[in-house]
Amino acid sequence: MTATIFEKSVEGRRAFVAPELDVPREDDTLPERFRRAEPPKLPEISEPEIVRHYTTLSTKNFHLDKGFYPLGSCTMKHNPKLHERVAALPGHARLHPLQAPARAQGALQLMWELQRALAEIAGLPHVSLHPAAGSQGELAGVLLTRAYHEARGEHRHRILTPDTAHGTNPATVTMAGYEVVKLGTDADGGVDVDDLRSKVDDDVASLMLTNPNTLGVFDRNIEEIASVVHDVGATLYYDGANLNAVMGRARPGDMGFDIVHYNLHKTFTQPHGGGGPGAGPIAVSDRIEPYLPKPQVVRREDGTLDLDYDRPESIGRLRGFQGNFGVFVRSYAYILSLGADGLADVSDTAVLNANYLMARLRELAGEHLPAAFDRTCMHEFVLTGGPMKKALGIRTADLAKRLLDKGFHPPTVYFPLLVDEALLIEPTETETKETLDAFAEAVAEILAEAAEDASLAKEAPHTTPVRRLDEAGAAKRPVIRQPL
Ligand SMILES: Cc1ncc(COP(=O)(O)O)c(C=O)c1O
Repeated sequence: MTATIFEKSVEGRRAFVAPELDVPREDDTLPERFRRAEPPKLPEISEPEIVRHYTTLSTKNFHLDKGFYPLGSCTMKHNPKLHERVAALPGHARLHPLQAPARAQGALQLMWELQRALAEIAGLPHVSLHPAAGSQGELAGVLLTRAYHEARGEHRHRILTPDTAHGTNPATVTMAGYEVVKLGTDADGGVDVDDLRSKVDDDVASLMLTNPNTLGVFDRNIEEIASVVHDVGATLYYDGANLNAVMGRARPGDMGFDIVHYNLHKTFTQPHGGGGPGAGPIAVSDRIEPYLPKPQVVRREDGTLDLDYDRPESIGRLRGFQGNFGVFVRSYAYILSLGADGLADVSDTAVLNANYLMARLRELAGEHLPAAFDRTCMHEFVLTGGPMKKALGIRTADLAKRLLDKGFHPPTVYFPLLVDEALLIEPTETETKETLDAFAEAVAEILAEAAEDASLAKEAPHTTPVRRLDEAGAAKRPVIRQPL
């Protein structure tokens, strides 16, 4: 076990010595009630020891810069190093969130242009960069829907989500005070349109969909679905977490969606998850625009950019300040460096890589891990481990853990919920054919091993710094604080 940074602390050691104070002290600025009697117990450690400590920890962890990370629905694509350089430029990194707009014109211009580019990609005219994550974009979308209906004197109570939906969709609906109504999935993997017709009425505020959905298939009935939803005056919400499959090729606005969120940290690159913060901007049609969060970045008549707070119908703020600005810089750099053709190429390659890997796995492991829906996939696909469990006595979780021993991050497991022993695999466009082949071969190797000795998978991982963890226990009884 690596000692914690607190255990390595030795009184008096320093990594940095601040220069002598040469301005008057402002001791009175902070109200008394916020002051501590004792200074915080920070670790005292030298710079080389800090560098070694965190470098060692980073090599124990599995991360995208270390290996293949096909975590379905999470779009763990390569984050170009150029983005880090531009995000770290002092004008970006040192910008204070309370800087007056007149003195932050460059930053506002970047936000403005990012909004324009995102609007074009979604095919919807108005964008707010405000929400901090995909799930907060969802909450913004549902609150926008409510504001839209209430402005028309309507009070609706139910929101539809398919049974394939990401957990954040029904959670958002509940959080916003609506009732969740589940829709079934048809044999093709899309929304069961008959089920939709039987559940939709003028008490339904919205249908939240992702297309392609979490089964990795494109819903061919999207235009019909849009018209059923619009006929009762409800909004159609696009969960943009899967935009990486269609960006530059198809636009949610053209499919009939009214509100879209983007996961900038997925589609438009950003170290995310444990690696960094996200951003979940939203795009909307004209009829939803008056309710967008505030402030909005606007261009004034004299050409200058500003933050507009004068939005009487706005749903207000969902977070402090203007958003995670570093994420905006990285996504803007990504869009500019690829251009329109490059973005379409990203989607094409993401879809090609997923279909290639699905075909390789069908060839090498199809008997034990068949595709849940046997059709051309989009940027990700779902296999079912049901036959593997029956024939070899190992479960999807065992396969996932054994993949760590082979040097791969596991795909998403047990999601979507409607697939038995689900394995959701998203290779992304930045992986080579050699990597995809090596992954498929590793899966085949694990199945062959399990036919001889199932305990190898059941007790995996064997080679990682920590062995199999009690994941349910960690979720139910998290210990998230270092005891001092
Ligand atoms: C399909 C889908 N929708 C929504 C979300 C929520 O996005 P975020 O994690 O940025 O809150 C995710 C995230 O994994 C997702 O995969």
